Amino acid sequence: FLPKKRKQKDSLINLKIQKENPKVVNEIDIEDLKSPSACYCRCWRSKTFPVCDKSHIKHNELTGDNVGPLILKKKIL
Ligand code: FES
Repeated sequence: FLPKKRKQKDSLINLKIQKENPKVVNEIDIEDLKSPSACYCRCWRSKTFPVCDKSHIKHNELTGDNVGPLILKKKIL
């Protein structure tokens, strides 16, 4: 007897960010980055989404997950 297969909707990734929108999309122009690097959230737990606020550390501790930010780096020419 196999356990009932979970449906995708049983495992929401986004729990509370912009739930009023049908899809959350963020667009960032690389040229507008103020500093040489920027961290963007991929765990969907950041209170400053889409910017990473290190909430992924707590999320990983609580769940055993291993997610982290996307780090964009700008070459200084
Ligand atoms: Fe989400 Fe850092 S807070 S990846």
